[in-house]
Amino acid sequence: MKILVTGGTGYIGSHTVVELINKGHECVIVDNLYNSSDKVLGRIKQITGVEVKFYKVDIRDKDALEEVFKENNFDAVIHFAGLKAVGESVAKPLEYYENNISGSIVLYELMIKYHVNRLVFSSSATVYGDSFTSPLKEEYGRGKTTNPYGSTKAINEMIIEDIGKANKDFSAIILRYFNPVGAHESGLIGERPNGIPNNLVPYISDVVVGKLDHLNVFGDDYDTRDGTGVRDYIHVVDLAKAHVLAIEHAAKQVGVDTINVGSGNGYSVLEVIKAYEKASNKKIPYVISQRRPGDIATCFADTHKASELLGFNTKLGIEDMCKDAYNFIKKNPNGIE
Ligand code: NAD
Ligand code: WQD
Repeated sequence: MKILVTGGTGYIGSHTVVELINKGHECVIVDNLYNSSDKVLGRIKQITGVEVKFYKVDIRDKDALEEVFKENNFDAVIHFAGLKAVGESVAKPLEYYENNISGSIVLYELMIKYHVNRLVFSSSATVYGDSFTSPLKEEYGRGKTTNPYGSTKAINEMIIEDIGKANKDFSAIILRYFNPVGAHESGLIGERPNGIPNNLVPYISDVVVGKLDHLNVFGDDYDTRDGTGVRDYIHVVDLAKAHVLAIEHAAKQVGVDTINVGSGNGYSVLEVIKAYEKASNKKIPYVISQRRPGDIATCFADTHKASELLGFNTKLGIEDMCKDAYNFIKKNPNGIE
């Protein structure tokens, strides 16, 4: 298939482009480079041998995005483009709604206009909010979101469901990711956020390479096996492969389906630290600090639907995630420059 990948130079998008190419699909990337570099394109070429067509376009720019649709006869779209920092979304809600909602509407309008009926959308376990107990099942629906970022994901899900009701040929898979971590085994693509990382594994990576002197563990008094927060970490390469299965599945059906993408296993913060220490052979200094507002004790996926509908099961475990995160940060301490 010829697939438009919005946000394709970003962290999950770039890994997905590699896996799509590995499976013989043709990718065209649209990204405004707000949170990524065009150097990623060279890295994708190094890994796959393929030069991917790229447009530096903001998806909110309808005229520019329409040119991309006119020039290419797409079979499908995988939509990653968006802003994703939870804390920032609380401070700048309108930027998040404007980018993540208005941008998506422009994209969906053009999909309808150009009869591109297959979509995979990046949603998040954050849409379950703090309303349900893990393992989280798709059938629970959406809970009360706790920040504007999460609300943009919930609203996008609703928009896609309504497009599906109005267009009988439309086919979409909404993927609810749990906690994507790690990097491609080559160490050529991966994630190093700008500034001080908010998320656990990128933060640990910065500690390991000496950019930060210790990790703050946000609370050790949760009702979990060691008191620290439990999350469902998934290797980004496994997650990328789920997208290939999802877009191929969307090509065979109509209607809208929502699918969790996690491993189904929860790891505590202390367990992640241990796994990273083993993978890097380095000591990770940490201090127990206050709980982070908005955090919940435990979050992990029920993965039956992904397994049954897509035939998707994770192959890489927590040690692979830490090994590959470490390999990437060692080779790219300042990200992909
Ligand atoms: P990322 O920031 O690395 O990638 C997103 C890409 O979209 C970036 O390259 C950015 O430049 C681009 N972009 C943003 N706004 C754009 C716009 N208006 N027009 C064109 N390009 C734009 O993030 P990621 O971690 O790869 O996440 C990809 C998607 O998955 C996002 O929608 C994110 O919300 C979602 N998601 C991520 C996680 C996670 O933990 N990383 C978890 C759940 C869901
Ligand atoms: C994991 C665990 C923290 C940092 C976020 C978003 C979610 C999704 C994925 C996009 C928690 C603890 C963290 C640190 C710590 N993104 N922690 N010290 O919060 O589960 O999910 O990313 O959709 O929407 O909310 O991930 O990596 O921030 O935290 O102790 O410096 O690590 O308390 O228990 P989270 P995280």
